[in-house]
Amino acid sequence: MPTLETERLILRSFHQEDIDRMAHLFANPDFMRFSLGVFTECKQTIAFIEKVMSWDRAGIPSQFAVVPRGKDTVIGYCGFFYHPEHGIEDIEIGYRLHPDYWNRGLITEAARVVRDYGFRDCNLSRVISLIHPENIPSRRVAEKNEMNVEKEITFRGFPTLMYAITRQEWLARRGAG
Ligand SMILES: CC(C)(COP(=O)(O)OP(=O)(O)OC[C@H]1O[C@@H](n2cnc3c(N)ncnc32)[C@H](O)[C@@H]1OP(=O)(O)O)[C@@H](O)C(=O)NCCC(=O)NCCS
Repeated sequence: MPTLETERLILRSFHQEDIDRMAHLFANPDFMRFSLGVFTECKQTIAFIEKVMSWDRAGIPSQFAVVPRGKDTVIGYCGFFYHPEHGIEDIEIGYRLHPDYWNRGLITEAARVVRDYGFRDCNLSRVISLIHPENIPSRRVAEKNEMNVEKEITFRGFPTLMYAITRQEWLARRGAG
């Protein structure tokens, strides 16, 4: 995958050297809000890194490590997830950020450039975000990413809002559709 840049962030592919830092993030209950829980074992982080690296190798849109410009510390992730095992064929944009960096607009910046990359370079027809109704910050990010609630589903046993934006909507908003 290419490296994506925003005003304040670099979004790059994950590599093996990120395991220790990601294990630290995945062990943080705030970073893991609205998930199935913190990772208690390193093998869970290794499985995440190997999964996203394998998508990269296969040329499939994957997750990006989120790094502040001018630093070399990963502060979160933002990118694509797949849920065919849950009967969901759409590609999700998912994200998590270290709490020290919340509410500065950083994941909005990241999610927008990821969305644009998906539509412009990967030719995706539609992307979704799956969000617990009580996760207000994440819902705001989806709204600022020009997504709308399409329906409520049960995902991994929890009530979940499916936010979506189609390629046509994305093009139309840019005056090209
Ligand atoms: C969701 C998450 C990635 C957002 O990252 P972020 O960089 O802080 O997001 P942004 O700053 O771009 O936007 C957050 C928005 O939520 C708003 N917000 C945050 N807390 C809020 C609250 N309690 N009530 C109302 N709005 C709130 C912020 O004001 C901001 O909206 P605004 O720009 O309209 O003011 C981050 O909170 C996080 O990592 N949470 C834990 C993991 C998670 O929930 N991931 C998503 C799973 S679906």
